[in-house]
Amino acid sequence: MHLPSLLTTVAAAAATASAASLVITPRQSSTTLTVNLSQKYQIIDGFGFSEAFQRAYNIYNLAEPKRSALIDLLFNTTSGAGFSIVRNGIGSSPNSSNDWMNTILPVGPATAAAAGNATYVWDGKDSGQLWVSQQAVKYGVKTFYANAWSAPGFMKTNGKDSNGGSLCGVTGAKCNSGDWRQAYADYLVKYIEFYQAKGVNVTHLGFLNEPDFSTSYASMQSNGQQSADFIKVLYPTLQQAGLSQVAITCCDATGWQTQATMTNALKSAGVENQIGVITSHTYTSGISGTQPTSRKIWQTEYLDLSGGWSTSWYSNGGAGDGLTWANNIYTGLTTGNLSAYLWWVATQDKATNNNNNEKLILVDGGNYFVSKRFWAFAQYSRTVRPGAVRVGVSGGSTLKSTAFLNADGTVVVNVINSGAGAAALSVAGIKAAGAKAWITDAANDMTAATSATVGSDGVVSGVSVPGRGMISFVLTTAA
Ligand SMILES: *[C@@H]1O[C@H](CO)[C@@H](O)[C@H](O)[C@H]1NC(C)=O
Ligand SMILES: *[C@@H]1O[C@H](CO)[C@@H](O)[C@H](O)[C@H]1NC(C)=O
Ligand SMILES: *[C@@H]1O[C@H](CO)[C@@H](O)[C@H](O)[C@H]1NC(C)=O
Ligand SMILES: *[C@@H]1O[C@H](CO)[C@@H](O)[C@H](O)[C@H]1NC(C)=O
Ligand SMILES: *[C@@H]1O[C@H](CO)[C@@H](O)[C@H](O)[C@H]1NC(C)=O
Ligand SMILES: *[C@@H]1O[C@H](CO)[C@@H](O)[C@H](O)[C@H]1NC(C)=O
Repeated sequence: MHLPSLLTTVAAAAATASAASLVITPRQSSTTLTVNLSQKYQIIDGFGFSEAFQRAYNIYNLAEPKRSALIDLLFNTTSGAGFSIVRNGIGSSPNSSNDWMNTILPVGPATAAAAGNATYVWDGKDSGQLWVSQQAVKYGVKTFYANAWSAPGFMKTNGKDSNGGSLCGVTGAKCNSGDWRQAYADYLVKYIEFYQAKGVNVTHLGFLNEPDFSTSYASMQSNGQQSADFIKVLYPTLQQAGLSQVAITCCDATGWQTQATMTNALKSAGVENQIGVITSHTYTSGISGTQPTSRKIWQTEYLDLSGGWSTSWYSNGGAGDGLTWANNIYTGLTTGNLSAYLWWVATQDKATNNNNNEKLILVDGGNYFVSKRFWAFAQYSRTVRPGAVRVGVSGGSTLKSTAFLNADGTVVVNVINSGAGAAALSVAGIKAAGAKAWITDAANDMTAATSATVGSDGVVSGVSVPGRGMISFVLTTAA
């Protein structure tokens, strides 16, 4: 399905190219993009995905050499996307059948007062997520976001991990079994310790997922005040466990506006300084500005819910198009002031596919099929590395450009061209010593653009961003 359509695209592009060479058109003047390293914005933590809900097994169960090739595609910084963040679901369910993620505390103590005697059970798999995380570690990934969808049912007002309910002990949630906040904090610490023992350091911890949404799978309700009530317990618990380096996130709300309301409530409750990262999804409302916080901000889950499975780069601006996602990431990095942008799941198989775009990669029948959304992420993720600072870039009013200074001193310029015609580019404002560039469009998946040259003045030229395409420059600068 995928391969023939790609070959057709390449053939069509080649035909267009040779036809165009017969037409004599005036040489287009190039657009100059000027980088300003003195104009500094947010620090970037990275780009990532989740393999929660048992999706990790789509990779784990692939026969070699495909399994290693798929891991390489996800994490390799030379030939793959170089994803730098993995978001793991902390299970709260009694078992791992279907989409359930099992908990490390399947049998709860009768009361919160007895929680000190809790018997944790580590199955060594964590719904396949541990193995994927260990592969990521091998590729140098350092950021692991452990995120609970819910506390175990016995800690909640409704007695189950699904269908909403609240954590017993927060404002307005009284339970006969007691106040379970400390037990939930201890439980989350225990999860981190299980991972640590297996060589994976959890760096970010979320105790909520879509707390404004109640559904048939793991879900727990929480408003800003109730979240603050728990953070006041979780923060000192992490400190006492020697995990002060783990950043607390909050609150993975379904949309940007809901999260903004919660962010303001967290500030009013006095816990902003105990939070490492404000996290939001963008289903019910998109990024229209930054969050009202001085903390870092991540967009931690989004996908195209509306379209059928698509591997197209540009199909009239469809929701699943690669180019659409390049634009979404751009908006997040600029308007949203984001330090990280995460897609939902990397993979799905045919059984869970439902002909949708929940995934970046379809795994099916021992094979996998890569969407262009994956390559939109790769253009940013491979080039803009953790610790990069977003800096100023101007010029090219019809282009969407972002620039970054990586921790290793390289300067990155990412350019999206939503117009139909190619645009010749020059990059100025820094004194480049070397230039590499990669292009993604309908016919290319991060293809190296070998024509980039550096003038004696340090200005980079010789390359174009294709119509409806994206180019990423990585420039070394003169010492
Ligand atoms: C670069 O950014 C700095 C900081 O915002 C600003 O003061 C300076 O004027 C900018 N330089 C140019 C050439 O625009
Ligand atoms: C990443 O890919 C490159 C090029 O294929 C390869 O040389 C390198 O070994 C890979 N890195 C890892 C960590 O496997
Ligand atoms: C697994 O757990 C879910 C969630 O509690 C439950 O609905 C389901 O019946 C359980 N399945 C089995 C086989 O125990
Ligand atoms: C924990 O279990 C021990 C042994 O059964 C018991 O003596 C103790 O009271 C229990 N502690 C709590 C807090 O329930
Ligand atoms: C995880 O953290 C421990 C303790 O800080 C450290 O010794 C170890 O090297 C880290 N592991 C990785 C893979 O970063
Ligand atoms: C952007 O986020 C950073 C934290 O990453 C914060 O310090 C800065 O104030 C934010 N900028 C704006 C304009 O909100």
